[in-house]
Order: sequence, then C-alpha cells, then structure tokens
Amino acid sequence: MSDGLDDVVAAHTVLSEVDGAAGRLVIRGHSLAELAGSTSFEEMAALMFDGLLPGLPLGREFPAALGKARTDLFGIVERTALSDDLGPVEAIRAWTAQIADGEEADTALRLLAAPAVFTAAAVRKRRGLAPIAPDPALSQAADTLRMLRGEAPTSAQAAALDTYLVTVADHGLNASTFAARIVASTRAGLVSAVLAGISALKGPLHGGAPGPVIEMLDAIGEPANARAWLEDALGRGERLMGFGHRIYRVRDPRADALKQAIARLGADAGRLRHAEAVEQAALAILRERKPGRSLETNVEFYTALLLEALGFPPEAFTCVFALGRTTGWLAHAREQIETGRLIRPQSVYVGPQPRQAA
Ligand code: ACO
Repeated sequence: MSDGLDDVVAAHTVLSEVDGAAGRLVIRGHSLAELAGSTSFEEMAALMFDGLLPGLPLGREFPAALGKARTDLFGIVERTALSDDLGPVEAIRAWTAQIADGEEADTALRLLAAPAVFTAAAVRKRRGLAPIAPDPALSQAADTLRMLRGEAPTSAQAAALDTYLVTVADHGLNASTFAARIVASTRAGLVSAVLAGISALKGPLHGGAPGPVIEMLDAIGEPANARAWLEDALGRGERLMGFGHRIYRVRDPRADALKQAIARLGADAGRLRHAEAVEQAALAILRERKPGRSLETNVEFYTALLLEALGFPPEAFTCVFALGRTTGWLAHAREQIETGRLIRPQSVYVGPQPRQAA
C-alpha cells in the first residue's frame, strides 16, 4: 500500500515510457530528442493516435480537419458567457464542458482543438479584448499565437510552441493522465475524460507550477538575492517550483528540450541568464537540504521561460500545458476504453468498527 501509488503499475501502454533513473523519455518508439524541435503538434497527434482512433482523418487531411474543428468551437466562446471570476484554466474547463460527446474521432478532434481556441479567448477576455476567430488554414501552434496576440507569429515562434506542445504531449501515468484513464474506464466519454485531465493538471504539484516559477524569478530580482530568497521560501516550508519529480531521479530530459527551444528562439538573453543563476542556486540548496534525495530541475522551470517569451501570461501557462497534454489524455483514454476494464482499486479501512450489539 502506498498513499501516492508510488510503485503501483496500473496500465500497459504503447504510448510512452519514462525512465526516471536514466532521464529518458520514449514516445511511441521515438526518443524525445528525436521528436522535439522537428515535429509539429499535428504530426505528434497523428503519431499518438495511430491505431487508437479509427475514423480520424490522418495525413494531409488532419491539419485541415483540426482547423475546421477550431472554427466550429469559436461559437461556444461567442455564446457562452462565463463569470469574470474564472481564471484561464477554469474558463477553458467551463467552455470544454460545453462540447457534447459524439462519434469518438470527431469528439477527439474537437477536444484537441479546444484548448487552442479557449486559451486565447480566455486571456483576451481577461484583458478586456474581443476574442479573435480561428484561421483554419494555419497550423494549430501558429493559430494559437495569432488568436492570442492578434498578429501572425514568426515561423520561429510557431516552431517554438510546436516544440513545447510535442515535449509535453505524453508522460506515462502522470496524475492528469491517470485521472483521464479512470474516467474513461467508466465509459463516461472522452469529454469527461479530458475534463478530469484539466482538473488534475491545474494543481501546483503538477501542471500549475510554471506560473509560480515566474513569480519566483521576479521576486528574486537579482541573482545575488537568489540564495537568501530560496532559503527563506524553504524555511517557510514551501516547495521550490520547477524542481523535483516523482519519477525522475536525474534531470528531466524535457527541461533541456525546452531550454534549447528558448535558445533557438533567440529570446531575452538576460532573462535566461537570470533563470540559470536561480536554477543553480536552487539546485545547490536542495542538495544541501535533501542530501539523500536527488531533486533536479523539472519540465516546468523552462516551460515558464519559453511560454513567457511567446507572450503567454503566467496564469495561462497551465492552459498551454493542457493544449499539449490533451493529445496524451485522449490517446490514453482510448487505450483504457479498449481494455474494457473499469479502474477500481481498494482501500484499507482504518476507522472505527460499529459497536457490537449488546
Ligand atoms: N522543493 C522543496 N522540497 C521538495 C521539492 C521541491 N520542489 N520537491 C520535493 N521536495 C521534498 C519533499 O517535501 C520531501 O521532503 P520530506 O521527505 O522532508 O517530506 C522530499 O523532497 C522528497 O519528496 P518526493 O517524495 O521525492 O516528492 P514527491 O514525489 O512527493 O513530489 C513533486 C514530486 C510533487 C513534483 C515535488 O517534487 C514538488 O512539489 N515539486 C514542486 C512543484 C513542481 O515543480 N511540480 C511540477 C512537477 S512536473 C509535472 O507535473 C509536469
């Protein structure tokens, strides 16, 4: 028994393998290094869904079908008013809940398109700006940036977003993917499975970490302040966001894939140097404080820098993570449905027993 299911194996999957000791990620037979930087979001989705979603238009038809799905979804933004109190993650979850389950391949296409349309709309609405309608002729990455900022991105910016989305597309049985598989196993449908994924992803121990990374970098201000600021945070019992991982005992390979993407983008060199200084200070302190436990940089640290450089506000970082990870949630949901098996573990009751009748 383990409260965090640390060593429990709960699925066979052809989708991805995370080797925590070697720092290696394999997705459908390819190493992350082979995929990140050379694969588009659409190509990655086609790779992930291969054999799992019959009826999905693949090949050249796939980007066009995805573009059409984005256009179809814009109506949801136009006709569904949301409370101003909702942050971007809650907004994309609320709009996604407006999608009706239908034929599986068609539903999957709409769910894949949804975070692109809804993230851009949620950010613009919070800024008091009108949402921008999708352009179905663009790639999903380029259209996401265009809908967010109101102008077409450079090809380098679209490529950087593709690299991010591919890097986070799938990662074994992480918390949100497991949540999606559990819901799919009840045959509740793909929409509910993806909603479960979004809900699990938003927590700060999972996909909610990169926003606070920016807060940390900004609060530290100067590299010379890093050590004192980080010591104080640990002294208050806080965790350092962007460090540590349940599976990796070495550096998360996704951190370097994203660092390379930042370098290729030619983003603000001063900002990158500041982040590197904070990273080194944090790693040194974590080694001192937790000598028996290897706490290394995880994917979220450089996610924060890359998404900031692309113009996403920190409160929307988790939405962009969802845009990449929906591919994994959907593929895992389909894989789970194919097992025909309900996920239903057991618990050990430690409460009181009823009193014996006198
Ligand atoms: N900062 C400070 N201390 C930490 C950190 C951290 N980032 N991560 C782990 N620790 C501590 C734990 O508190 C624990 O201390 P204790 O033994 O004194 O209680 C010890 O290190 C060992 O923790 P683990 O069991 O290895 O951590 P666990 O597997 O439960 O947690 C997690 C993994 C949730 C990612 C954790 O490292 C964390 O909270 N990191 C910060 C948040 C973050 O970056 N999340 C994104 C993860 S990547 C992703 O989900 C996409």
